[in-house]
Amino acid sequence: METVIVYSQTLFIFLLLCFSSLVSYFLFFKKPKGNFDLLPSPPAFPIIGHFHLLLAARIHMSFQKISSKYGPLLHLRIFNVPVILISSPAIAYEIFRAQDINISSRGVAAIDESLAFGSAGFVHAPYGDYWKFMKKLIVTKVLGPKAMEQSRSVRNEELELFYKTLLDKAMKKESVDFFEEAVRLVNNTLCTMTMGRSCSVENNEAGRVMELVAELATLSKKFLLGKMLRNIFEKLGISPFKKKIMDVSRRFEELLDKIILEHEEKPEDTEGKDFMDLLLADSRDENAEYKITKKHIKSLFTELFLGATDTSSTSTQWVMAEIINNPKIFQRVREEIDSVVGKTRLIQETDLPNLPYLEAVIKEALRLHPSVPFLVREFRDECTIGGFYVPNKTTLVVNVYAMMRDTDFWEDPDEFKPERFLASSRKEEDVKERFFNYIPFGSGRRKCPGSNLGSIFIGTVIGMMVQCFDWEIKGGKVKMEDAPGRLFLTMAHPLRCTPLPRTLNPLPTSH
Ligand code: HEM
Repeated sequence: METVIVYSQTLFIFLLLCFSSLVSYFLFFKKPKGNFDLLPSPPAFPIIGHFHLLLAARIHMSFQKISSKYGPLLHLRIFNVPVILISSPAIAYEIFRAQDINISSRGVAAIDESLAFGSAGFVHAPYGDYWKFMKKLIVTKVLGPKAMEQSRSVRNEELELFYKTLLDKAMKKESVDFFEEAVRLVNNTLCTMTMGRSCSVENNEAGRVMELVAELATLSKKFLLGKMLRNIFEKLGISPFKKKIMDVSRRFEELLDKIILEHEEKPEDTEGKDFMDLLLADSRDENAEYKITKKHIKSLFTELFLGATDTSSTSTQWVMAEIINNPKIFQRVREEIDSVVGKTRLIQETDLPNLPYLEAVIKEALRLHPSVPFLVREFRDECTIGGFYVPNKTTLVVNVYAMMRDTDFWEDPDEFKPERFLASSRKEEDVKERFFNYIPFGSGRRKCPGSNLGSIFIGTVIGMMVQCFDWEIKGGKVKMEDAPGRLFLTMAHPLRCTPLPRTLNPLPTSH
């Protein structure tokens, strides 16, 4: 009798193992169609494939490491999700040149309902009618050259306010958290540019937007994992990141509902129409080119704030950290500003084209510290790359961080040398290199639409901070590590310095 029980137990365990292996096979091993094995691929773990690379504290570095060992064009497998990893400017050039429309979508969203990176948003919208309609509106009404010219006075006023805040802190000998201050400036400026008003001080709107953006930034890795593993999570009937992401999304929605209500209750003829008014009018217009909903509008605003704030603020922080650690470079930027702008008025954004060294410093900091270290796209249709077959729905990862430190394209790639971006020291390069070894704002149709605004934010803020203040830092040097566990490149140690004014009389914005 005992033998029979032991036998049945063993049989049961054996059958259970067979069953779970079969389930695993269908869940995780179902191979994508096509001759995928032809692409070079580093050794993978059973079932999870190369998933461990996504668990690294700094994913861009784990991708860089694997590419430098196995090559710049690799096939990876995250469970059953096929991924192509690119880390060479020449291959990126070929893909963006020949396949731009094919890779102009970002694949599925992690959580459809989320206002940030959800399926009603702009960032995850597939390349099609909705994306084209929104892109046209964003460019013509907010971020294009004409719209930017019209909103210039808003940015000048916000910069002057920021300057006064720093002056006040300097008088009180208080230190400044660069990231916090930059976030406040970017949010206030964007609020006025898009909603016709500054973030409300009484309701601490700026503070709330800042908190929500910061929370979303800490969830960035969950967005990536949720998106890559969505298929598997759905098959297993789980949604491990949904609660956290939706909690932040709902709080963003409450804030935006209030702002929308304010716009709807505003009498028609009181003020000029802002971007929010225009979108709301489109949502009511039965004959609009594309019928948008309030969910589309709220998602767009959430993503614009998210896209603008964290990127511009972290970049400002990195530039400042680099020049504080390199006093000769700091001094050269200051001399350039003094000679072009003078010492009797505050720098303005119209001065930026006349400050090539400042521009070179910013470009060099973005090269070393791109706030979005890798781009994620999806191949809509099957194609071939470098002679290799790529099936449709393959995820494309372009490791911008690795490309901008590629030793074949950059001399001393890990060193901060702004001179390399000055026209005088640039060598004759071929077209591939010129466009593809430097892409901190991405490339192609889905390239960042806010690159001009982002560069203006960083240029004017850094320019003003160098023109008007010396900076004192505890310990004399800034620690340059980036924070682990984030998707966006953020400083591990927030940069805090005390401003010392060069002149006690506030500078006017113009003569
Ligand atoms: C230093 C500042 C900034 C950096 C480094 C940056 C970087 C990027 C990058 C790398 C992408 C992905 C591009 C691609 O896939 O090829 C992107 C997309 C985007 N960025 Fe920026 N960005 C910055 C500032 C801004 C600003 C100021 C805004 C808006 C006010 C903005 C809005 C967006 C939007 C909406 C997208 C999605 C575009 C699409 O999917 O079509 N960004 N950004």
